[in-house]
Amino acid sequence: MRTAVYPGTFDPVTNGHLDILHRAAALFDRVIIAVASESNKQTLFSLEERQELLREEIKDIKNVVVSSFSGLTVDFARQCGAVALIRGLRAMTDFEYEFQLALMNKKLEPNIDTVFLMTKSDYSFISSSAIKWAASLQGSVTEFVPPHVEKALMQKYNINI
Ligand code: COA
Repeated sequence: MRTAVYPGTFDPVTNGHLDILHRAAALFDRVIIAVASESNKQTLFSLEERQELLREEIKDIKNVVVSSFSGLTVDFARQCGAVALIRGLRAMTDFEYEFQLALMNKKLEPNIDTVFLMTKSDYSFISSSAIKWAASLQGSVTEFVPPHVEKALMQKYNINI
């Protein structure tokens, strides 16, 4: 049983994250989505909301579960018996940060590797922040998030749909 942990803030989950997730689920026996409970980002959605939005999306994928963690990602991954951390790379701009994070995580836990998957080009320019910004100004985000996430965004920003 090869388990991978896919960590992130997921505020909220986007089609870009889901693309990475589906591909990770095809590569590993089990994927645990690890929603960070502590973040240096001010989140729009609570931890429970972020997990619930993800759970709605993974209902039909048998080998994926949603969990949350605090503290170090590698500690959580070790507790789960994971062999890998999954991260998506969108563009070169992601590389420096991800490279540093992967090396730090490898130092902290040499038995766990980071596996990078390239984000599908259709989603390579999106981020949760950009989506929230557009949605807050009533821009359409239909292309970038699943329908129930779009609905949740509209509710947060009190936009009638
Ligand atoms: N498609 C679209 N967007 C994507 C994406 C993809 N495939 N992959 C990432 N993104 C976006 C996210 O939407 C997010 O956008 P935002 O900044 O506008 O919110 C951004 O890229 C990165 O977010 P995310 O993937 O959630 O990661 P993060 O940088 O918020 O890091 C943790 C989250 C949990 C991995 C990291 O903070 C962590 O490891 N924390 C625990 C402490 C720890 O162990 N630190 C490391 C050792 S010091």
